[in-house]
Amino acid sequence: MKVEGKAFIITGGLGSIGGATARNLVSKGAYAVLFDILAPADAEGKIATFERADRYFYEQTDIIDRAKMEASCRSALSKIPKGSLFGAVHCAAIAPGKPWSNSLMDKLADFEKVMHVNATGTFLVDAAVADAINSQYLPLEVFHERVTEERGVIINLSSIVGHEIPARSLTYGVSKKAVLGITEAVADFLAPVGIRVNSVAPALVLSPMMLAGGRDKFFQSQLDAYSMFPRPFTEPDEIAAAIVFLMKNSMMNNFHLKVDAGWKQLSSWAAGDPRKISPLLE
Ligand SMILES: NC(=O)c1ccc[n+]([C@@H]2O[C@H](COP(=O)([O-])OP(=O)(O)OC[C@H]3O[C@@H](n4cnc5c(N)ncnc54)[C@H](O)[C@@H]3O)[C@@H](O)[C@H]2O)c1
Repeated sequence: MKVEGKAFIITGGLGSIGGATARNLVSKGAYAVLFDILAPADAEGKIATFERADRYFYEQTDIIDRAKMEASCRSALSKIPKGSLFGAVHCAAIAPGKPWSNSLMDKLADFEKVMHVNATGTFLVDAAVADAINSQYLPLEVFHERVTEERGVIINLSSIVGHEIPARSLTYGVSKKAVLGITEAVADFLAPVGIRVNSVAPALVLSPMMLAGGRDKFFQSQLDAYSMFPRPFTEPDEIAAAIVFLMKNSMMNNFHLKVDAGWKQLSSWAAGDPRKISPLLE
């Protein structure tokens, strides 16, 4: 599949992986519609520094708000060339960082919030984008026959901790495992209308999310312990290249791609009390 001339919605498009993916796609002749929560003035200042800035569009939105997502998709369709919407890369997500307590109940509020944004948000983004793609062909209320041509591709961002939930992850890892399940269910549902759905799981990427609260030293020690090779943080461009590979290869569907330098995490008490090793992880 050629991305040239096609438009893609990128949620969290002003973030590390979303931004790198948008730049990769635009360098190949695509249009990028960035969905993010930042104010338009801040977003546009940032986009103005990108090469081929005329191929970017911006929608300030909230990926967990159905009305805003639907309005943003309608607005995107009105800005891009007619019929060009071909998919999405869903990068917007949150990760909590809270001190430990001895009560699991203390994590309930975080659990609800993270599942809402990362899991329900993934379902909502996939649904809104799929409806927007489908609306370019037939009205949604009409039964869509099983098509033969490819009409779109969606990539959801999971995480290596969604593939193997490590010790000390009660919310984020669970939400990212849900992303794997949502990807499989949505790939099945959207197959008749010719839309592929895959996920990408990074390990540790250099980004504000990763650096928040001085967590980078802790995560570098995790990379030294668990990455086979290489051991530095992953550059956002490496994740973008993997995402674009899945988008361009029309045979890739219902697939979970780990981009993790051979991450092999052992969750054991042998190295000491995990609560003391990572008191601020969640
Ligand atoms: N960075 C990593 O090491 C890493 C590792 C594994 C998985 N991931 C996953 O990759 C994806 C992208 O991560 P990143 O490192 O680029 O993050 P990032 O923090 O750089 O970017 C996230 C972007 O999402 C936006 N956003 C957050 N909530 C939003 C909302 N409700 N509505 C709209 N926009 C919202 C933020 O404004 C930000 O621009 C996430 O799903 C993350 O969980 C990241």
